[in-house]
Amino acid sequence: MASLPSPPIGFSKIQCVFLSIIWIGLSCMAQVNVGGDFGEAFGRVDNRQREFDYFKLALQWPGTACRETRRCCSSNACCRRSNALTEFTIHGLWPDYNDGTWPACCAGKRFDVKEISTLLGALNKYWPSLSCDSPSNCHGGKGLFWEHEHGTCSFPVVRDEYDYFVTALYLYFKYNVTEVLREAGYVASNSKKYPLGGVISAIQNAFHATPELECSGDAVEELRLCFYKDFKIRDCAIGSNAGSGIINSKVSCPRYISLPEFVSLRLENNEIEASQSTLRSTI
Ligand SMILES: *[C@@H]1O[C@H](CO)[C@@H](O)[C@H](O)[C@H]1NC(C)=O
Repeated sequence: MASLPSPPIGFSKIQCVFLSIIWIGLSCMAQVNVGGDFGEAFGRVDNRQREFDYFKLALQWPGTACRETRRCCSSNACCRRSNALTEFTIHGLWPDYNDGTWPACCAGKRFDVKEISTLLGALNKYWPSLSCDSPSNCHGGKGLFWEHEHGTCSFPVVRDEYDYFVTALYLYFKYNVTEVLREAGYVASNSKKYPLGGVISAIQNAFHATPELECSGDAVEELRLCFYKDFKIRDCAIGSNAGSGIINSKVSCPRYISLPEFVSLRLENNEIEASQSTLRSTI
């Protein structure tokens, strides 16, 4: 945990409380693990795997992701009736190489949900799965969504599974993208379009770093923030531009983008059923 920056002044009470819980939890874990073989096992280095260069915190916009999900299952947060997903949620904290590639399917201790049992409440809320699909081809593609988010590839910068998830949550709270966009007037809407340049500038002004954006049509699908291995924020510049002083955000978005409102998938299905039965009864 020594590798994490300490929380800056100006955190809201809720953030402080949340982080305190995490820090306390972590201290307990650290004590439990002293003398154990967890860290060693987690970090068994695959020598063919060179260490990554930086981290990408990938955030999903549920309003977009859930429009592309067709199926409901218990793990798909798009089907939640309550707690509408009105904020960017975490997709993953990904180790990346500067050349635009990334390590995957790294060797190491297999994911064990018990290691992060104290975080499950926070993970379900802030790091939910937004589909029923198996998100990975590694290890047979089975298991929980969280299992596939590159924890083992983050070794040795991130010490173990617990450290990985706490670090991602910490960065997510520290860099509140939804809040920054909201303050700049970019809020969920099914009718408004926003200038891409304005959205990127809002993030640059708040965090002094350039994000990466990905869209599906004009709808923002992901916004990614990049970090050095000491978790200081950096530009997500692409390789050839990185040293030239030109800040070039990698985007797959048009010049005007949208942030669609979240609609519960189950609600939508029910509405379809309801309208069909109305139709039948009127015939
Ligand atoms: C982000 O900020 C908004 C206020 O704009 C707040 O409601 C929300 O809880 C914050 N999210 C996190 C993860 O801190």
